[in-house]
Amino acid sequence: MTGRVVVVTGGTRGIGLGLARELLARDCRVVLCGRSEESVRGALARLDAGDRATGVPADVTSRASLQALWDHAVATYGRVDVWINNAGVSAPRRPLTEVAPETVESVFATNTFGAANGSVVALAGMQRQGSGWIWNMEGFGSTGQVQAGMATYGASKRAVTYLTETLVKEVRGSDVKVGLLSPGIVATDLLVDDYAGDPEAFEKARKIFNILGDRVETVTPWLAERLLRAQKSGTRVAWLTTPKAMSRFLTAGLRKRDIFADATPGAA
Ligand SMILES: NC(=O)c1ccc[n+]([C@@H]2O[C@H](COP(=O)([O-])OP(=O)(O)OC[C@H]3O[C@@H](n4cnc5c(N)ncnc54)[C@H](OP(=O)(O)O)[C@@H]3O)[C@@H](O)[C@H]2O)c1
Repeated sequence: MTGRVVVVTGGTRGIGLGLARELLARDCRVVLCGRSEESVRGALARLDAGDRATGVPADVTSRASLQALWDHAVATYGRVDVWINNAGVSAPRRPLTEVAPETVESVFATNTFGAANGSVVALAGMQRQGSGWIWNMEGFGSTGQVQAGMATYGASKRAVTYLTETLVKEVRGSDVKVGLLSPGIVATDLLVDDYAGDPEAFEKARKIFNILGDRVETVTPWLAERLLRAQKSGTRVAWLTTPKAMSRFLTAGLRKRDIFADATPGAA
């Protein structure tokens, strides 16, 4: 696994930044993006990896922007071995009729079209190189969970899973492989911002999240290790499995946790 070049979209915060850190710790070189110069510069400073990490601002809603990210990675490190479509945004937990149309558009543009754009750019580049791995990030809704208030985010993520499973079929017979990452419930800006303007709902959800959820630094080493070791196209790397969730509920009384100790809804 030494020296692999990994692109992480949305690598400036949360799970993406955690993955970047863990990939660097496993001898990879990392290329990341976020939407602004400032966020990219800040993430690179936090990673403090010298010439083993680089980044440029890129917006996943634009295919041209992701092509520029690919080109930057290849100009810097010569190739891309792994491309992770991680960038994502959430929507407020509200009935669909109360979600602003621009929010619906932005969630689909980022989560669904962003994963499609990244997959197309990476697939074309990897086919030219002769090999590579593309990973797409699942989320609530991906495996069919349905909950009131989650129409926008859930539908955008269910589409990501469909898109990825289709790609797995489309790359069959080539040396490009495609997989799914499922991080479970992770204390990040994205999760907290679902509850922006509704601290009461956040307090209720917090109890469940403290049972089922984890911090970035717990989940990302596990994801990084498995995505680097994966062999078979179509692999799904899932942190929060049903047996794990059941065992968390059974042992909840024995454990006191607050994975959101530093979080304020809407503060990001
Ligand atoms: N947290 C969870 O519980 C959870 C659970 C399941 C799945 N996920 C998925 O995991 C992924 C990461 O989520 P997270 O919780 O780490 O979120 P986060 O902390 O809010 O980070 C989101 C990242 O995406 C970037 N981003 C957003 N829009 C972008 C765009 N248009 N172009 C480029 N970058 C963009 C942000 O960068 P800038 O702000 O610098 O642009 C940031 O780096 C998402 O796909 C999410 O759906 C999260």
